[in-house]
Amino acid sequence: MSLDITLNKILIIDFGSQFTQLIARRIRELGVFSEIVSHKKIKSKDIDNSTKGIILSGGPLNVYEIKKYSFDKKIIQKGKPILGICFGHQILSKLNGGKVKQSKHREFGLANIIKKKDSLLTKNFFNKKKFTKVWMSHADQVSKLPKNFNIIASSQNSRFAIVENNSKKFYGVQFHPEVTHTENGKKIISNFLFLICQIKRNWTSKEQKRKLIDDIKNQVGKNKVICALSGGVDSSVVAQLMNKAIGKKLFCIFVNTGLLRKNEEKQVLKTFKKKLKINLIYVNAEKEFIKKLTNIYDPEKKRKIIGNLFIKIFERYSKKIKNVKFLAQGTLYPDLIESKSVTGSQTSKIKSHHNVGGLPKKMKLKLVEPLKFLFKDEVRKLGLELNLGKEIISRHPFPGPGLAIRMPGSITKEKINILKEADHYFIQALKEHKLYHKIWQAYAALLPVKTVGVMGDNRTYEYLCLLRAITSEDGMTADFYDFKKSFIQEISNKIVNSIRGINRVVYDITSKPPSTIELE
Ligand code: XMP
Repeated sequence: MSLDITLNKILIIDFGSQFTQLIARRIRELGVFSEIVSHKKIKSKDIDNSTKGIILSGGPLNVYEIKKYSFDKKIIQKGKPILGICFGHQILSKLNGGKVKQSKHREFGLANIIKKKDSLLTKNFFNKKKFTKVWMSHADQVSKLPKNFNIIASSQNSRFAIVENNSKKFYGVQFHPEVTHTENGKKIISNFLFLICQIKRNWTSKEQKRKLIDDIKNQVGKNKVICALSGGVDSSVVAQLMNKAIGKKLFCIFVNTGLLRKNEEKQVLKTFKKKLKINLIYVNAEKEFIKKLTNIYDPEKKRKIIGNLFIKIFERYSKKIKNVKFLAQGTLYPDLIESKSVTGSQTSKIKSHHNVGGLPKKMKLKLVEPLKFLFKDEVRKLGLELNLGKEIISRHPFPGPGLAIRMPGSITKEKINILKEADHYFIQALKEHKLYHKIWQAYAALLPVKTVGVMGDNRTYEYLCLLRAITSEDGMTADFYDFKKSFIQEISNKIVNSIRGINRVVYDITSKPPSTIELE
């Protein structure tokens, strides 16, 4: 990755740890810009004055098999403060003349470490009894300390749990200060940043906003930019940021697929056109989408049809705007980090995701990706800084293919209308009971089965509505939300009594895995 940001930063060299992104987030939470680079790509010549310190991440590699991987060893001679974490600690020791071998006792999970010596790195880290609990996850360990290194703390199984070479400002920790299980782990990171690297705080939402707007102006100049607006968090933040930077040179295209939540198109128009005064082209493509989706039963086919039609419509309308040079999209940092594949094997495809991003290659537009250095939580904070309002910023995620994948089987206008109502009642009830923000994502789905019921003296034969509400960190894994019986009863009654077409409600209690969050 090119280091195209000139802010002072902490460089994180990734060796494939599952926690590398956490290191970056912890640093940014402390108000400092951090950048992740792969150990395979970064060369000592790339490291300039803007790098105030380096962190070597953990990883699944073995230091004694050093020939198997590439790493520019001159990096450690650049005179920068370095903190090695787990594998990073081991490689730092090895490159300074120490030894690393397989531990007799592997350490996974919590361990107690005890202080042996004072260090800037551990200021206010230990408790009064000079102990603290840390999270270990290693099979190898440093077996011989390099010359001029001191032991700062030890655990029962790791004599060299924290070490330092004070004059070179090299520090190594065998545990993971970036995970929340390590008591006070953030203290290690903040001491490294502020006491050792002496970097200044430079990463607040206000600062990001100013810098990103400047960057957009520099990149785009007087040219026109198009942007696909979905009303979701990322595309909304991109649109508002671009609007602040280039105003009427921005053309947002909002495609109403007919598969949005109830009244969503009205809300998008109200917020972006009326309130924020963004140049917005509204395309009502409801009929086109329903026509293409009629009698399509296969989930993958549905997704493909929706993705392709979306691109076709987007192209059709963007061609009407003359002399467009750029396409703005909401790529986030985790999508970009090239080092995420250091250890990664290609995971098998579960579903083909459709996003408003990644469009449209054929048009040969240059990309503007203002959020490409941000994590999702940073995007949310930036959105608030841009006056987007909590209503937009803390919305549950909504998939690109919309209600189509919450309606297994063929799609009809009648089914869409029934589903919109059920979903609306469910989300309203969550808001009224102050549950909405406790839940990561919630929705109603309409199953393609009819069952028998009785209402008054009449037999009914109507659809089955499924409710799903989950807790999650990032959508990769999820658990169902444990509602009180009274709530689930109330919402079930409300849906069945208010919506013609549904006479039975079920609540989905499967986790992900083995299920996915969406039904298709
Ligand atoms: P699954 O169903 O794969 O969903 O467990 C994980 C998260 O991704 C969302 N999702 C999508 N988002 N385009 C999107 O932008 C898509 O095609 C898509 N499919 C699923 C889903 O809502 C959940 O938050």
